[in-house]
Amino acid sequence: MTSTPDDTLMTPWSRSLGLRVPVVNAPMGGAAGGRLAAAVSAAGGLGMIGMGSAGSVAALERELAAAGGATVGIGLVDWVRDRETGLLETAIAAEPRLLSVSFGSDFSWVPAVQDAGILAVTQVYDVPGAHRAQEAGIDVLVVRGSEGGGHGADRLALLPLLDAVLETATVPVLAAGGIGSGRTLAAVLAAGAAGAWLGTCLAAAEESLLPENARRAMLAADSTHTVVTTVFDEVLDLPWPPIYPARVLRNDVTDPWSRPEFDEARPSAEMLRAAMDTDDVTIAPVDAGQGVGLITHIEPAAAVIDRMCANAAELLRR
Ligand SMILES: Cc1cc2nc3c(=O)[nH]c(=O)nc-3n(C[C@H](O)[C@H](O)[C@H](O)COP(=O)(O)O)c2cc1C
Repeated sequence: MTSTPDDTLMTPWSRSLGLRVPVVNAPMGGAAGGRLAAAVSAAGGLGMIGMGSAGSVAALERELAAAGGATVGIGLVDWVRDRETGLLETAIAAEPRLLSVSFGSDFSWVPAVQDAGILAVTQVYDVPGAHRAQEAGIDVLVVRGSEGGGHGADRLALLPLLDAVLETATVPVLAAGGIGSGRTLAAVLAAGAAGAWLGTCLAAAEESLLPENARRAMLAADSTHTVVTTVFDEVLDLPWPPIYPARVLRNDVTDPWSRPEFDEARPSAEMLRAAMDTDDVTIAPVDAGQGVGLITHIEPAAAVIDRMCANAAELLRR
């Protein structure tokens, strides 16, 4: 089944990239490996490989191999790019269609990416941030609303953010945060987004790297079951700037109301690492946005994208 029978969803940006549908999967560390990226590209969107906190040259090379030569994008975390010697260079050498670096204020990577003919992309959370990114020469902005899963500034919900940034942006703007259905996709395209950057709704797809219990927890969660927190990054002593907390599924660590002894009950770094290694989601973080309630079963990424795009096209044709 092809993703859309007509070009109802096409935007100038998706056309310029030769995509059949204006969707990009978010570069999700621990979920968006080469298999998911290749599946999203095969479904007509642009698949992205995500290197999160644990990103490394070896991990990127492994996931590029798993993508099997598909046209993909690559996403890095700014402090990981800074820490891991050769990571940015390896990403550029792989000639992705676009390369995103998020969660930083240093845009010194932009010229090297553009000199290689690759689109430079970053996530923004407010209008001043969008201006700074544009002034640094960013080719495509991703406006990420606070509904979104994983790390990001907890500032504005997607629609007010998208509205404000579209008012002044001179580059294509992708919308991110809570998009996981035909309705939400249609809404952001109708508002003028160049495309959608989808995280949570593809994190549990068949091709995702997400471990089994994390997947099950996503299926079981409803849309109220997430919370924004820095607790995991603090315990692990990771250098995330505090303005970028993460939206995760609530669990024993994040629910202070169910644990009055919360501060004393924080897991040690060793306990947390062990929980992450054993996929114990009562303690380990599972990144997920408010769209998590839309995930009802595990299916191939193409099925998620086909359904979402067909429903969005029907709504927009009305
Ligand atoms: C499981 C998961 C992991 C993520 N990891 C990253 C990452 O490594 N790098 C990044 O730029 N964004 C990451 N994000 C955030 C996405 O780029 C995006 O902002 C978010 O998923 C959009 O909202 P949504 O989850 O509601 O679709 C992650 C999101 C999720 C759900």
